[in-house]
Amino acid sequence: MPTVTDTKKIKIPPTAFATETSRALEKPGCLLVSGDANNANVMTIGWGAIGVLWGRPVFMVAVRPSRHTYKFLEETGEFTVNVPRKGMEAAVAYCGTVSGRDADKFKEKHLTKLAGEKVKAPIIAECCVNYECKVLWKTKVDDSVMAVPDEVKKRFYPKGDLHTIYFGEIVAARADEDAAEHLP
Ligand SMILES: Cc1cc2nc3c(=O)[nH]c(=O)nc-3n(C[C@H](O)[C@H](O)[C@H](O)COP(=O)(O)O)c2cc1C
Repeated sequence: MPTVTDTKKIKIPPTAFATETSRALEKPGCLLVSGDANNANVMTIGWGAIGVLWGRPVFMVAVRPSRHTYKFLEETGEFTVNVPRKGMEAAVAYCGTVSGRDADKFKEKHLTKLAGEKVKAPIIAECCVNYECKVLWKTKVDDSVMAVPDEVKKRFYPKGDLHTIYFGEIVAARADEDAAEHLP
């Protein structure tokens, strides 16, 4: 994994790496950080999208209530999304299987917190693109109006635990100077 000193972060337009971020969500996943500098948590997300709502750049994420992250999102209404560098796959897999209730994932995977510019949730220094988001709107998935076959509902929601979808305005975005060469 690269060390923090390898990288210099620059401000980017929120949609500059939208395609690459979508690809990273698909594989290996991106890292969602919630909380604040003293009490932050990180989890892997595979569901999400960058887009526009109410004339603002938005990052949409879907988080199940059973996640430790959920509590932080509900309390703070802020989060960051971090696109891992190539080589961070093991950290992404770990953050997607272990809960912050049981471990300090930053410490375990040597992830470095950097202060957000506009939100209290930190960004991850080792990740090559970082989005800072403030929740504009949220809604719970209502499976009674989901136009998908029952087998899909059963596959994703065998025990309920329906996602809440958070639409976060991207209030700041940064990337490593060499991000384009190191995206997954
Ligand atoms: C590749 C991958 C993608 C994931 N995507 C999501 C997601 O979009 N939403 C979600 O609620 N959980 C998702 N998870 C599961 C959480 O990352 C996992 O349950 C995690 O341990 C929750 O951490 P927390 O309890 O510290 O919040 C994903 C897991 C993996 C491995």
